[in-house]
Amino acid sequence: MKILVTGAAGYKGTQLVDLLLASGHEVFALDDFRYNQKVFQGHLKNRKFQLKKTDVRNHSAYLEWLKQADAFIPLACLTGAPVCEKFTDLATAINHQAIADALKLLSKNQAVLFPMTNSGYGVGGEAHCDENSPLKPLSHYARLKVETEKAVLDHGNSVSFRFATLFGASYRMRYDLLVNDFMWKAQTDKEIHLFEGHFRRNFLHVADAARVYVHALENWNHLRGEIFNVGLTAANMTKLELCQEIKKIIPDLKITANHDMKDPDKRDYVISNGKIEATGFNCKYTLHDGLKELKDIFVLGRTSEDSNQ
Ligand SMILES: NC(=O)c1ccc[n+]([C@@H]2O[C@H](COP(=O)([O-])OP(=O)(O)OC[C@H]3O[C@@H](n4cnc5c(N)ncnc54)[C@H](O)[C@@H]3O)[C@@H](O)[C@H]2O)c1
Repeated sequence: MKILVTGAAGYKGTQLVDLLLASGHEVFALDDFRYNQKVFQGHLKNRKFQLKKTDVRNHSAYLEWLKQADAFIPLACLTGAPVCEKFTDLATAINHQAIADALKLLSKNQAVLFPMTNSGYGVGGEAHCDENSPLKPLSHYARLKVETEKAVLDHGNSVSFRFATLFGASYRMRYDLLVNDFMWKAQTDKEIHLFEGHFRRNFLHVADAARVYVHALENWNHLRGEIFNVGLTAANMTKLELCQEIKKIIPDLKITANHDMKDPDKRDYVISNGKIEATGFNCKYTLHDGLKELKDIFVLGRTSEDSNQ
C-alpha cells in the first residue's frame, strides 16, 4: 500500500515509518521539521520512501500524495496541552483545520487512521474508561482532538486510536512525556518531587503505538469505523507506582512528596484496552523495557528541541 504519514519526523512518526517500510509498504513522509529533527538520512536510498519538507496546512504542496495514497495517517500536530495553550490559533489550524481540509480531498476508498489521545476522557472518575465513556476534554489540545476525531469518523473509512501516554526511546525524543521526564529526572537529579502521586494514568511504548497502525492495516475490514483505546494494560498505574518502577532501575532515586503543588494535567483514570486486545493486538514492550532503553539513550544527552514545551 501507499501510505501518507504527516508528522513523520516526530517521536511516533519515525518509529511508524520504519515499521511500514519493513512491512513492505510505500511511504510518503511529510514534516515541516520544526524541531530541527536530524532523521531519515538513511532512508533516502530506499525506493519505497519519499520525503517532503512542507507545512501540512499547504495542501497544494502534497496534493499528488493525497490523491495517490491508499491510507492517510495524519500525525502532524502541535502535540501536548502546554504548546497548544501557548499557540492557540496555530494549534487549531494544524491539529484540526489542516486535517478537516485534507479529508475533503480524499475519496471514501482511502483509509484514514487517526491518533486521538485518551486525555479526551478528562477526569475519569469511573472504574474503567472504555470507548463508550463520556469525553470530557480539559485542554485546548484535547478539545481539538475530540473535534477532529469526529470529522475523521464522519469520513467513514477510518479508525481512531485513543492512545495512552507514550514512553521509550525514539529517533526524535520527547522529554515532555511523563515517563520520559521522570526517568530523566531520576537519572540526572536522583530525585523526583512528586505531587498528586495518586493520579492514575495509562502508558504505552512508542514502538507498540507504531505497531497498532500496521495491525489495523492488516485487519482493516474488522477494525474500520471503530474507536479503540490503545495502551499497555499492565501500565495502568499511579504516578507513585511509576516512580517505584523507576527506582528498581535507579536504586538511589529519592521520591519526595510535595503536598502543596497541584498537577495542571488533571487526568486520573484507569483505561480499558480490552476492545483492541480482542482484535488480536497485544503490546510487545513492557514499561521495564522502555525504562531500560531510556537509561541507555540518556548518554546522548538532550537539547531544548527534544521537548514540545
Ligand atoms: N506521544 C503521545 O503520548 C501521544 C499520545 C496520544 C496521541 N498522540 C498523537 O500522535 C501524534 C504524534 O505525536 P508525537 O508524540 O510523535 O509528537 P511530535 O511532536 O514528536 O510529532 C509531531 C510532528 O509533527 C510535525 N509538525 C508539527 N506541525 C507541523 C506542520 N504544520 N506541518 C508539518 N509537520 C508539522 C513536527 O515537526 C513533528 O515531527 C500527534 O497527533 C499526537 O497528538 C501522541
